[in-house]
Amino acid sequence: MVGASAERIHQDIETIANCSSPGPGTNRLSFTPEYWAAVDYVAAQMAALGYERKTTPHGNTRFRRREAGWDEPAVAVGSHLDAVPQGGRFDGVAGVVAGVEIARLLEDLDVRLGRPYELLICAEEEGARFGSVLAGSKALVGRLTQGDLAQMTDAGGTSYLQALGETGEPVWADQGGVLGAADVAAYYELHIEQSVVLETARVPIGIVQGIVGIRQYRVTFSGVANHAGATPMRLRADSLAAAAQAIASVEALATAAASGLTVGTVGMLVNEPNAANVIPARTALSIDLRDTDAAVLEEVAERVLERIARIAEERQVRAQVALTAESAPVVLSSRLRGALVRSAERQGIGYLEMPSGAVHDALEIARVMDAAMIFVPSIGGRSHCPEEDTPCEAVALGVDVLLGAIQTASARAG
Ligand code: GLV
Ligand code: MN
Ligand code: MN
Repeated sequence: MVGASAERIHQDIETIANCSSPGPGTNRLSFTPEYWAAVDYVAAQMAALGYERKTTPHGNTRFRRREAGWDEPAVAVGSHLDAVPQGGRFDGVAGVVAGVEIARLLEDLDVRLGRPYELLICAEEEGARFGSVLAGSKALVGRLTQGDLAQMTDAGGTSYLQALGETGEPVWADQGGVLGAADVAAYYELHIEQSVVLETARVPIGIVQGIVGIRQYRVTFSGVANHAGATPMRLRADSLAAAAQAIASVEALATAAASGLTVGTVGMLVNEPNAANVIPARTALSIDLRDTDAAVLEEVAERVLERIARIAEERQVRAQVALTAESAPVVLSSRLRGALVRSAERQGIGYLEMPSGAVHDALEIARVMDAAMIFVPSIGGRSHCPEEDTPCEAVALGVDVLLGAIQTASARAG
């Protein structure tokens, strides 16, 4: 069989990588001009194949062939195009490009599917602009309302819906934009692995069994600004010192958790007034906790919150805690995973079944429809950084496996 083209995939990845604001790595926050430039590039590729583009009221973008219409449940492939600050070229992009390449292959190979084919781009997967991971896919499955999106703001105070409105992107008003199994019968997402399991095992394909659950918080410690030289140590209410203790506690509590698999990260810190000779008055930090075991995740989160309350009390500062994102772990569809396994076996391509420690749009989508994921190796396991890399030949091999699975998954029962 003529397979996916690594050359075309390379061209897509390079073009989308250039849709970036300046700085090291890829910088493409949701609903910025560079974000829409990336969506427009994908739309141009899809338009050339006869697909129309629809943007949901949450800023997610859907593509189907004009003659297929929007009424029948599709077999969909998707991922995201937004990026973390100073991120890589492949995270999310590989999955969207895989979806474009599949549309090309359906055409080139004259493959007839049993259902309409759909490409789906979810907005704000990283949560890097509006502070809540998986916002677009959550809205897509009805777990965030328009009211919730109106409340979510970026660092400059612009809300999710304002940012979407400001870009002039026409929104598909005749659809609520909330999807279920009646709209999509099978959702597949290809993603880079973002770790070293496949590379170490020298296996080209990961078939994802399940995805971790996640809790993200924003904690703000408020103390009292004062003179760094004139204020004795015992008279201080130092918000940054409290934050430092909280950061160390997140690391310690995640490391000590019962599953041995919990991860805990403080990746964002904002300190005010941030001057060498002023005792800090306000320090905000993010907390990101993950585990495949929902009960362990719950327990670690409780311990972290208790510790934060204790630190605040002991240091005479105030701690405000907001839960900014929460998703329970999921097991992915055995029907769709089976189709991936059979496709890999038919083509003689090696695979490993494995869990995902990163979260993906499939985590939310799997709550309301059948969803599955395929991983391709990450060089050196690097991700969420400019060094993120995967050979385009490896993405192409993933597309070949995906295409075989889609053919099986699109077959209608009976
Ligand atoms: C998304 O990339 C995540 O796992 O945070
Ligand atoms: Mn990511
Ligand atoms: Mn991603």
